[in-house]
Amino acid sequence: MFQAPVSTPMACTGGPLSALDAELLIVPWFQGDTIDAVAGLDAATGGEFARALTSKEFQAKPYELFFTAITDMSWRARRVAIIGGGSGERGSDLIRRLATAAGLAARQRYVARAAFAVRGQGDAGDLAQAVAEGLTLAEFYGGSYKTEDPPPAAVPSWTVAAFETGDGAQAVAAVARGRILGECSNLARELSNEPGNTLTPREFAKRATALAGEAGVKTEILDEVQIEKLGMGLLLGVARGSAEPPRLMVFRYDPPGAPATPVLGLVGKGVTFDTGGISIKPAEKMEQMKDDMAGGAAVACAMRAIALLKAPMRVIGIVPTTENMPGGKAIKPGDVLKSASGKTVEVINTDAEGRLILGDGLWYARQLGATHLVDVATLTGAVVVALGKVTTGIFGAPDEWVERVRTVGNRAGDRMWPLPLFDDYKDQIKSDIADLLNTGGRAAGSITAALFLKAFVDDVPWVHLDIAGTAWSDESKPYLPKGPSGVAVRTLAALAFEKF
Ligand code: BES
Ligand code: MN
Ligand code: ZN
Repeated sequence: MFQAPVSTPMACTGGPLSALDAELLIVPWFQGDTIDAVAGLDAATGGEFARALTSKEFQAKPYELFFTAITDMSWRARRVAIIGGGSGERGSDLIRRLATAAGLAARQRYVARAAFAVRGQGDAGDLAQAVAEGLTLAEFYGGSYKTEDPPPAAVPSWTVAAFETGDGAQAVAAVARGRILGECSNLARELSNEPGNTLTPREFAKRATALAGEAGVKTEILDEVQIEKLGMGLLLGVARGSAEPPRLMVFRYDPPGAPATPVLGLVGKGVTFDTGGISIKPAEKMEQMKDDMAGGAAVACAMRAIALLKAPMRVIGIVPTTENMPGGKAIKPGDVLKSASGKTVEVINTDAEGRLILGDGLWYARQLGATHLVDVATLTGAVVVALGKVTTGIFGAPDEWVERVRTVGNRAGDRMWPLPLFDDYKDQIKSDIADLLNTGGRAAGSITAALFLKAFVDDVPWVHLDIAGTAWSDESKPYLPKGPSGVAVRTLAALAFEKF
């Protein structure tokens, strides 16, 4: 049987830029660079580049683009695109974004073969990986249901030009890694982009486990009967209002020879559509709630990346998935649910459903032996108030584990900032008739949501990432078009390579 390749390779070459065989050569340029910062480049343009700099036509502002011909016939590329990198840090975070922005610009111009010259500060492998990730992120297309627009330009074949360091084994491996991480981010974006009517919990489970399964991850889909047997009253409670049955995805990555511990446990919120349930949401922007499974998609696609990249440690992934609907059997404010852990919850707002299904999910990850937990969820509107649309809220304990995840996240291009979990906030989620309330009111809404999750993790090191603001971009940026961002995929995958 024909098996589609799980990843398509990306070229990596060393050698002088003049020898690069591409239609378009892309070169980052930083404010403060002297004209000879890239040897021979200006001469290859017949002095056109220096002229543009002097006249201020091109000022190297972030993401600014300058296209010109390469007139020197001893160069193989015929055109160059110089992309501005500004005057700030030139680390891999910026380079990744420059690669995406330039990649998108190349696609707009129907370029078939583009090469990106790796420049910047820091480890050469990190930079090459970031370029591969960034170029791959430029391949995402969100208009798959359009029937009348001309089809999008074919994806160019990309080359990462490690012209300063050479195409040694390190650069080649870094590009391969970046390629996989970019592709897995795009797969998560595709899932998040999918509407609620096509991506039901059953369909989500089918697609997400297929993605991970073809990479070698062991997968299981538990149905409502098995979920009931596990006693997951929180997940079942949320699912009651929907005609679609819930599912629980279980991913296991067990590389031969891996030590018994640590076991990384990844848990993702998989609400395929969140109407709010009986505590129904206003109509305005409700359509956005199709991406309320972005955390679950990040977990599934990170599991795929982890297996493709052959991470050295054991990893478990858990994605509870359901709709949150206001059907005749739906849970009502005031209802009490019993979790798989035994804790009881008084549901005073059915729109705080994510923490419910994650409570059961986190408990199960622990049951399966996770020693270090990370959950990812579009959990609260309040985190958007606190941190806006560019920063993921990070919570957890102990501090060392939170710091570790944050450091890895920032390196992967997922910006995170911590919010506190002081015990004092716990009063807000005390119930008169059960162990917990499912909401703590408006004040510190993201914190009380995180404290609710904490009740289900015991003493296991745990981090919660609230991606409600970062999973979806409302406006188009040079490096991120409107739509799903694929947040957290690269962070979760990179964690499986850490020592803890
Ligand atoms: N899925 C939403 C959170 C959300 C809001 C994600 C906006 C992305 C953008 C979550 O299930 C929810 O409804 N949370 C409520 C909690 C409240 C009822 C305590 C919220 O944030 O309003
Ligand atoms: Mn909700
Ligand atoms: Zn939700």
